[in-house]
Amino acid sequence: MHSFGYRLNTILTAASFILAILCSLASFSDYFNVPTINAHIEVLKVNRFRKQLTGNDEVSLTFNISMDLQSAFTWNTKQVFVFVATEYDTDKNSLNQISLWDHIIQEKKHSKLQTRVTTKYPLIDQGSNLRGKQIQLVLHWYIMPKVGRMIEDKKVMSKFSLPESYT
Ligand SMILES: *[C@@H]1O[C@H](CO)[C@@H](O)[C@H](O)[C@H]1NC(C)=O
Repeated sequence: MHSFGYRLNTILTAASFILAILCSLASFSDYFNVPTINAHIEVLKVNRFRKQLTGNDEVSLTFNISMDLQSAFTWNTKQVFVFVATEYDTDKNSLNQISLWDHIIQEKKHSKLQTRVTTKYPLIDQGSNLRGKQIQLVLHWYIMPKVGRMIEDKKVMSKFSLPESYT
C-alpha cells in the first residue's frame, strides 16, 4: 500500500507534467496567431517647438491616434505595451529613435482606441537639427503572454514635416 506522501507526490508530478504541456501548447499556439494590428497616427498640432538653453531642439506634439489591437489578445495574452516613436536622420546620427508616447492595454475590451494625445515625452534632439526636418512616426508593440515568448513588432505610420521656424 502506498503511503499518503507517495500518492501526493505522484499527483503533483502528474499535475506539473500536465501544466508543462499546457504551457508549451499555449506558447506554441501563439506562433499561429499572427495579429493584424490596424493603426493610424498623425500629427494634429505642434504645441511647442523651441531651442533649449542647452542648444537642443525640443518639440511637443498632439497626435490623433486610432488603433485596433483586438487581434493581439488571445487567451494567453497578459498585456500589450504600445509606444509611438519617431525616427529621423541627422548628420550626427544616421538614425535617431525617440519614444513620444506609450500605453499599456490589459484587457481586450480596451484594445480599440481613438484618442487625441499630447506627447508624453518631448522630442529632444541631440543638437538643433529639427527645423524643417521630416520625421517618421512608428508604432511599436510588445505582446506579453501569460506563458511563453513575447511578441514584438512594429508598423510604420505617417510622416510629418516640422515647421521651418521655432514657435
Ligand atoms: C482622427 O482620426 C480618425 C480616424 O482616422 C478620424 O475619423 C478623425 O476625423 C481624426 N480626427 C482629427 C481631428 O483629425
